[in-house]
Amino acid sequence: MDYKKYIAERLHAEGVSAEELAALIVCPPDPAMGDYALPCFKLAKTLRKSPVAIAESLCADFTADEVIGKAEAVNGYLNFTVNRTGMVGDILKKVLSEGARYGASDMGGGRVVCIDYSSVNIAKRFHIGHLSTTVLGAAIYRIMNFLGYKAVGINHLGDYGTQFGKLISAYKLWGDREEVEKQGVSALNELYVRWHKEAETHPEMEDEARAYFKKIEEKDPECLALFDWFKELTLKDVARIYELLDVRFDSYAGESFYSDKMAPVVEELREKGLLKESQGAQIVDLEAYDMPPCIILKKDGSSLYATRDMAAAIYRKNTYDFYKCLYVVAYQQNLHFKQFFKVLELMGKPWAKDLVHVAYGMVSLEEGAMSTRKGNVVFLEDVIDKCIEKAYAIVSEKNPDLENKEEVAKKVGVGAVIFGALYNSKIKDIVFSYDKVLNFEGETSVYVQYTCARANSVLQKAGDAAGYAVPASLTAEEFDLARALDAFPETVLSAAEKYEPCLISRLCVDIAQKFNKFYFNCKILTAEREELKNFRLALTKATLQTLTNALSLLGIGVPEKM
Ligand code: ARG
Repeated sequence: MDYKKYIAERLHAEGVSAEELAALIVCPPDPAMGDYALPCFKLAKTLRKSPVAIAESLCADFTADEVIGKAEAVNGYLNFTVNRTGMVGDILKKVLSEGARYGASDMGGGRVVCIDYSSVNIAKRFHIGHLSTTVLGAAIYRIMNFLGYKAVGINHLGDYGTQFGKLISAYKLWGDREEVEKQGVSALNELYVRWHKEAETHPEMEDEARAYFKKIEEKDPECLALFDWFKELTLKDVARIYELLDVRFDSYAGESFYSDKMAPVVEELREKGLLKESQGAQIVDLEAYDMPPCIILKKDGSSLYATRDMAAAIYRKNTYDFYKCLYVVAYQQNLHFKQFFKVLELMGKPWAKDLVHVAYGMVSLEEGAMSTRKGNVVFLEDVIDKCIEKAYAIVSEKNPDLENKEEVAKKVGVGAVIFGALYNSKIKDIVFSYDKVLNFEGETSVYVQYTCARANSVLQKAGDAAGYAVPASLTAEEFDLARALDAFPETVLSAAEKYEPCLISRLCVDIAQKFNKFYFNCKILTAEREELKNFRLALTKATLQTLTNALSLLGIGVPEKM
C-alpha cells in the first residue's frame, strides 16, 4: 500500500497532478504532526494562495475513510493520521511475504551500471586508503543489482607507469625469486622502497627504470613475464581481503589494458581540433571551463592517467553500453574526473553526462596519517585481523559458551570494519577507531547484529506461531518500529540515487534502537493474549528480515547467536 499515493489521489488541487502531490508528501519526524504531512509552501505559486489557505481548503475537501482516519490543517501543513492497525498490517504482510526480496525492485530494468571501485595498485599492499572505495563500491554494486540494474564491477588496476620499470630494475639488482614468491607484495614493496633510497644518490637509475618500462610496453618477453608475475602476486594478496569483505569484480581490466587503445582517442582529439601543443606536450585547453589543461601526451609522447581513463570510458561504453558509469574514487581526484569528463563531452560523446565521480573522504587510523613511499603504511588486512581478534575477545567474554565463536567473531569483526567506513556521508573524512566500531552500545554493526541475535532467540523460543492479528490499539513502540521497517524500500532507492550506502546503515541503527525499545517495553513471549503474542512475534520476524536484507546489501553477515 502506497500511502503517499493513496492520499494524493484523494486531494483536489487544480493544476497539480496526484504524482506531484505524492512527491511533496513527507513522513514528519514528530508524530504530533501526524503520520504523513503535505507541506503546502511549494503549491503557493501554482495555486496563487497562501500555504495556510491552501492547507485549509484542501482539508475542507478531504473525506476521511478507514485508511486515512483524519486530516488537519496546521500552519500551512496538511497533516494526516492513518488507520494505524491497517497500516501496520500492510507493512507486516509486505515484509513477511517478500522475505529476502523485501526492499528489492525491478526498476533498473536490466540497465547496466558500470562501477569502477577498489582499483588497487600493483605491487602495493592493500592499505587503509583503499577501504572506502572497496566497501562503498561493493555496497553500491549490491544495491544496484537489488534494484534490478545489472552492475558491472570493474577493478581498474593501477598497473601502468614507470614505477613498474623501477620494480624490474630493483628486482634484477637485488631480487630473489623464492623470497618474493614467499613474501609476495611485501617483498615487492621492500624492493621498491630500497630502489628509491638508492636512486637518491644514483640518479642514473631513473633512466634504467624508464628503459625497463619501455620494454614492458614493447612486450619484451622477459620484462612482461616479470610484470605479469608481480600482478599475480598482488592479486593473490588482495584476494583474501576481497573474500573476507565478500567483494567481487566482473573485470580486472586495468590501466595497462588500454595501452593499445589510446592512439585512436588521441587521433580523434586531433581530428576534432581539440589538441593543442604546449611546451612540447599535447593538451586539451580547458580554460573556458575554469580548469587547468588536460594533458593527453607528455613531451616524450607517453600517455597519462587521464588518457587511459578516456580510453577506458570509451571502451566501457562500447562494451557494456552502460546507463551510468560510476567511479568510486577519493575526492583528491576531483579535478582529474572533471577534466576528462569535460574532454569527452567536448569530443561530442553524448554519454559523457552519464559518467559520475562518486567521491569520498579519507580514512585514517587514530594514530595518524601514513605515506606509501616511506613504508609506514596501515595495511587493511592488519586492521581487519585486529578487529576480528578484538571481536573474538568481546564475544568470548559476553558469551563463553557460544559454540562457533570464530565464525561469529569473523562476522562481527569484518562487519565493524565495513560499517565503520559506511556510517557517515561518504564525502566526510573518517578517523577509524577500534573501540568505536566495536562498541556494543554504539551506532555500530555489532549493535545491529546483536539486536538480530536477540530477535532470533525470541523467535526460536516461540517455535511455530500461528496466525497473528494486528491489535486495534497499538503501542507507540510497535507502531514506530513498523514504520521504521516500512522506510527500508524508500531508503534503498535514495541510497542508490545519491550513492550513499550510509542511509542504509543509519536505518539499520534506527530499526535496531526501535526494536530494542519495543523488546524492553512490550512483552513478546509473555503477552497477555495469544493473538497479541503472535502479532509481536510477526513484528520481530519482520525486523530480523529487514535488518538481514539491509546488512547484506552492505556486505555484513548476521550471526544467529551471539
Ligand atoms: N588506482 C587508482 C588509485 O589508487 C584509482 C583508480 C580509479 N579509477 C580510475 N578509473 N581512475 O588512486
